[in-house]
Amino acid sequence: MSVHSKTKRISIPDLIGYKGKKKIASLTAYIAPIARLLDESQDMILIGDSTAMVGYAMPNTLAITVDQMAAHAAAVVRATQRACILVDMPFGSYQESPEQAFRNAAHILAASGAAGVKMEGGSALAPTTRFLVDRGVPVLAHVGLMPQYVNTMGGFKAQGMSEEAAERIFQDALAHEKAGAFGLVLEGVAEELARRITDAVAIPTIGIGASPDCDGQILVTEDILGLSGDRIPKFAKPFGDAAGVIRHAAAQYAEEVREGQFPTLDHCFGVKKKS
Ligand code: KIV
Repeated sequence: MSVHSKTKRISIPDLIGYKGKKKIASLTAYIAPIARLLDESQDMILIGDSTAMVGYAMPNTLAITVDQMAAHAAAVVRATQRACILVDMPFGSYQESPEQAFRNAAHILAASGAAGVKMEGGSALAPTTRFLVDRGVPVLAHVGLMPQYVNTMGGFKAQGMSEEAAERIFQDALAHEKAGAFGLVLEGVAEELARRITDAVAIPTIGIGASPDCDGQILVTEDILGLSGDRIPKFAKPFGDAAGVIRHAAAQYAEEVREGQFPTLDHCFGVKKKS
């Protein structure tokens, strides 16, 4: 049985209201069967552009498109009733101008029914956050380690380790709060910096490789289920072995097919019952 009522969807104002009262639990999903299961326990589900790597085996997140994100988001919205659903704006869909960002965000939200978007970027992106928020698009701003900057950063590296770098990220966070972001994802940043940002802002911070003191946490679902192959980031923890379950079921099925044990007549149509 679910521990939550399935009737009312958690809204963005609800998430803001959790600050200081209740930690936000959040995971990613991009297909219906996983989303349906997560809906029972998560406050927020993100259709992350990590889908590019996890779902499409791409080397980074850069090549996923607006239409792919919208299609995955629509599947997740249809499969859920309770969690607040947010969608990543993919690389190249919002950096050009606030107008471009609004056009693509509106398309994603209209096509999917999701509640808001997440965008990666520092202070330079704050005017875009403001533009979207003023036009009815809730924004979760993502600062610190921003995977869409993989080529600029030279890999997926923790950020904010020097005093200057930490100060820059701190200012990025404040700029997005001032611009109207409803929350902040803090990814791969020094723990003390994540705590400092969490204390300084009135909006919830969602950590991923950040700090236990963040107002919530998010992880890539496949990383906690053993479905990411060898690529498990330091900040993820295995909470289950879906890989083992799938491997075992698939091997059992293959064996029964090869041995002629599956299917039986119970799985066939139009079988005449012997009298
Ligand atoms: O793309 C993603 O999955 C993310 C994370 C914050 C989990 O951005």
